[in-house]
This record gives sequence, C-alpha cells and structure tokens, in this order.
Amino acid sequence: MAAQCFFAFILLASGFSAARLQTRDSQFHATLSICQLAAQAISPASDVFYPGSPSYAEDISHWANSSSAPAACSVETGTAQDLRILGNTRTPFAVKGGGHSTNPGFSSTTGVEISMSRFSEVIYNASTQTVEIGSGLIWDDVYAALEPYNVTVVGGRISGVGVAGFTLGGGLSYKTNQYGLAVDNVVAYELVLPNGVVKTITSKDEDLFWGLKVNIGQLIFYDAPTPPSGLFDEFLAIPGIDTTVLKTQSYLSYVKAAALPPGGPRVFYGAASFLQFTKPLLQAVINETKFWGDTLTPHSATVIVNSIEPFLPSLFSHGAPGSSACPPDRSVGLLPINLDYAWTDASEDARMHGALVRSARQMTAAAVAEGQDVALAAVYSNYALFDTPVEDIWGKNVQRLRKIKRRYDPLDVMGLAGGFKFYMVLNYTIEFNGLTTEI
Ligand SMILES: Cc1cc2nc3c(=O)[nH]c(=O)nc-3n(C[C@H](O)[C@H](O)[C@H](O)COP(=O)(O)OP(=O)(O)OC[C@H]3O[C@@H](n4cnc5c(N)ncnc54)[C@H](O)[C@@H]3O)c2cc1C
Ligand SMILES: *[C@@H]1O[C@H](CO)[C@@H](O)[C@H](O)[C@H]1NC(C)=O
Ligand SMILES: *[C@@H]1O[C@H](CO)[C@@H](O)[C@H](O)[C@H]1NC(C)=O
Ligand SMILES: *[C@@H]1O[C@H](CO)[C@@H](O)[C@H](O)[C@H]1NC(C)=O
Ligand SMILES: *[C@@H]1O[C@H](CO)[C@@H](O)[C@H](O)[C@H]1NC(C)=O
Ligand SMILES: *[C@@H]1O[C@H](CO)[C@@H](O)[C@H](O)[C@H]1NC(C)=O
Repeated sequence: MAAQCFFAFILLASGFSAARLQTRDSQFHATLSICQLAAQAISPASDVFYPGSPSYAEDISHWANSSSAPAACSVETGTAQDLRILGNTRTPFAVKGGGHSTNPGFSSTTGVEISMSRFSEVIYNASTQTVEIGSGLIWDDVYAALEPYNVTVVGGRISGVGVAGFTLGGGLSYKTNQYGLAVDNVVAYELVLPNGVVKTITSKDEDLFWGLKVNIGQLIFYDAPTPPSGLFDEFLAIPGIDTTVLKTQSYLSYVKAAALPPGGPRVFYGAASFLQFTKPLLQAVINETKFWGDTLTPHSATVIVNSIEPFLPSLFSHGAPGSSACPPDRSVGLLPINLDYAWTDASEDARMHGALVRSARQMTAAAVAEGQDVALAAVYSNYALFDTPVEDIWGKNVQRLRKIKRRYDPLDVMGLAGGFKFYMVLNYTIEFNGLTTEI
C-alpha cells in the first residue's frame, strides 16, 4: 500500500488559476500545463522533465517495459514540500521507486510521473541500530552504503528492486526466516498526508503505521561463516546447478550477482500461496510450467517461470498478531509461488493475464486436493496481478483500511494514481538486524 498522499504541487499558492485548467484543452494539454506550472513553482531542489530528455526517459522507465507509460512529464522532487502536487486539479499521477512493479499503471501514468530518485540518502545510526533510507533507492545502494559498517537490513534479494514498493508490499528477503518481512523491521515512515502535511509515522500513529505495514532460479543463501560439511551435497548434485555464485561473499555482491533480466519487454507476475511444497504439488507446478510453456510459446511468450519460495512456516511470526495490515493472518505461514511470464507481443496481454489467473487457480486446486487449507489463502501483494481483489490480499483488514483511507484521503486523491495503494512514503527508518554481511 502506498501513495495515499496529497498531491498539491504548491501551484495554488503560486497563482495557478483553476480557469486555466478548465479550458477546452484535452486532458493531455491540461496535464502539460500543470507540468509547466509545476516547473515554475518547485524549489531548485526539484526538476520537471519532458519527453526527449534522458532524465524523462530514466524517470518513466521500468524493469518490465510493459509497466511504463508515456507520461506528460516527469518530476524529480528533492523536497517533501515540492511533492505537494495539486490534488484538486484531478491530474493523474504516478509515484515510482525502483520501478519493479509488474503491474501496468501502478508506478506509471499518462499524467505526471513522480520519480522519488532524489530521496537517496542512507543514514546509519550505530547507537540505535537503525538506518534511514530514502524511498527512491534500490536495495543494492542500501547494501553498498551499509557494507562498510558490517551491517545489513531485511531487504530485496535481486539486484535493482526498489526499497519503497518492496517494503510497502511486505518484503520477502533472504533474512525473512530469521527476522520476518521487511515491514516487520520498519520503525518509522515519513509521509506526505493527503492534507499536504509531512509527518513521521511511528507505531504511536496506530492506524497509519498499521496501514503502511501492508502493502529465483536456484538460489542458495547460507547465513553463517562455514556450513557444516556435506550440507549442500544433495543440492549441488542436481544436474544443471550453477555453482559459480556458491562462495563466501558479501550480501551486496550476492544480490548484485542475482540480476534477473525481464526476459521480454512485457511481464506480468501472478501469485498463489501454500502451506507446504509437497512432491505432488511440485509435480503439479511442473505440469503447469510445461503446459503453459507449450501453450503460450506460439503466442510470443519468452519466459514461463513458477518460482517456489520455501520459507520456514514461521515466517510471519516475527511481527505481533495484527501488527500490520498485511499479511492479514500471521498465525499461519504462507509460502508463495511467484508466477512470472514474459512475452513480446502487446496484443497477447489479455491471453497472458488469463493464463496467469488460470494457472494460479490450478496450482491452488492441486494443493486443496491434497488437503491444504489454501482455497482462500491470502496472496502476496508484491506478486499479485493488478486486478486481484483487495480482499484476496488484505482479507478481513480491508474494512479497516477503507476506513483509514476515508479519514486521510476523503477526496480520493490517491485514486488518481494506480495500484492497491494508500500512502506516500518519503523516508524509511529500518531497524537493524543481523550484524553480518557475510553469506
Ligand atoms: C526482478 C524482481 C525481483 C523481485 N524480488 C523480490 C523479492 O525478493 N522479494 C519480494 O518481496 N518482492 C520481490 N519483487 C517484487 C517487488 O517487491 C515489487 O515489484 C515491488 O513493488 C517493487 O518495488 P519498486 O519500488 O521497485 O517498484 P515501483 O514500481 O517503483 O513501485 C511499486 C509500487 O509502490 C508505489 N511506490 C513507490 N514509491 C513509493 C513511495 N515513495 N511512496 C508510496 N508509494 C510508492 C508505486 O506507486 C507502485 O504502486 C521482485 C520483483 C522483480 C521484478
Ligand atoms: C516501452 O514502453 C514505451 C511506453 O509505453 C513504449 O513507447 C515503447 O514502444 C516500449 N518499448 C518496447 C521495446 O516495447
Ligand atoms: C529524508 O531524510 C533525509 C536525511 O535525514 C533528509 O535530508 C530529507 O530531508 C528527508 N526527506 C524529507 C522529505 O524530509
Ligand atoms: C542516533 O539516534 C539517537 C537517538 O535518536 C540520537 O540521539 C543520535 O543523535 C543519533 N545519531 C546520529 C549520528 O544521528
Ligand atoms: C568490518 O569487518 C571487517 C572484517 O572483519 C573489519 O576489518 C572491519 O574493521 C569491520 N568494520 C567495522 C566498521 O566494524
Ligand atoms: C496439466 O495442466 C493442465 C493445465 O492446467 C491440465 O489441464 C492438466 O490436467 C494437467 N495434467 C496433469 C497430469 O496434471
């Protein structure tokens, strides 16, 4: 959940006239004039860019090109004040962190694309064992900044993933078995509220803090100096295993090595949740992978991957019951499958979407058939397809989330942005765990 923020780009204060927006101009021209007014109104710490400029291209770009859209302009804001973009002009906008969302329109728009890239500080406080992280960073940058201190955080596993989206969606990390989700380790958020106020939110701000707490290949991660001898023998005997990354290295170097290119210009993710990965369930997953590989390859599919993520069933036990909106039930550990399809032909989008939905259902049905109580299990928000009903992600918490939204965003400013989102985060303070960066 994110981005329920108030966008009031200070334009009202700088003599912006409503009449100017209510001309017969198309939405595009109205948006463009907002871009121009924004350019005049913002402080020197911020900039507005237009199509043709390299900064614009960078700002609208995403890991999956299908998640990008031709924005009227992009805005790189350097201060929280400049983020207060005009809510009442009803200008569509998007907020981008690391740009790894695979859901079109979640961090892209044909309106104003707001890039958080200038929120890029990493400030480590050794005495409190916390770090303050700008929401425009990717995890690689965070690990690199922390490496000299020999500390690390519960963050992303693959190079390039953004701090903001990852954390707002929960955040499954190599450290999750030990320390829980990323969100379980956040002690404060800095928010722009829908009334334009910039506020630090801690657990004292009960509703907002709770609401914010929502939102490959063969990887092996051993988090101790020397593994007991023979521990990985069976694993390493699997034909085709890539052993080149199997060495003692820093967290940063491991994550950097785990770069995962999209494999095609268009990518959607899907998700299903299980209690355990049994052999028959894995066979059903293999069958799904083959079936959809065969079915979709003639339709320009380039990648059909179903990644199983066998965390410990205790993965949700690191936060108190009800301490965050997501996962909705911490009493049962849910292990995700991440469905990952890539293809080239945009006219096949609907087919790929339909296949992802069907395949996730089929795998769920296989688990239910063997007795797993997962027919209504919550799906992981960071892998959920764009049209997943919010009840399937936040379960019984949806009601309280809607109430919070009504209170803080009565004008539905955040409805102008995409996503399953609620609030805008500027900086994170993340509690330190694991003092080792060695893996
Ligand atoms: C290659 C790859 C690897 C991945 N690996 C993992 C993994 O190991 N574990 C895991 O849990 N997930 C993983 N994911 C999923 C990932 O967590 C989500 O895609 C996440 O949304 C990415 O965050 P981002 O900031 O990069 O994305 P963006 O596309 O920039 O943003 C995602 C969402 O967050 C919102 N948002 C961004 N910044 C802000 C802000 N400052 N305030 C409010 N809202 C904001 C955006 O509007 C958007 O809705 C992976 C995804 C990919 C593509
Ligand atoms: C990438 O997305 C942009 C914006 O939607 C589009 O203009 C461009 O053609 C796409 N590029 C590719 C290679 O698909
Ligand atoms: C985020 O934190 C940094 C470091 O403390 C600070 O310089 C910056 O002003 C903060 N961002 C906002 C919007 O306050
Ligand atoms: C670390 O945090 C403590 C407690 O909030 C504060 O007093 C101290 O000034 C901080 N140190 C730095 C270097 O910011
Ligand atoms: C980090 O660890 C290395 C290797 O053990 C050590 O040389 C260095 O002094 C440590 N740095 C800090 C800041 O603790
Ligand atoms: C394999 O998957 C397809 C598609 O879901 C399904 O129709 C078929 O019955 C499955 N076959 C087996 C043996 O499970």
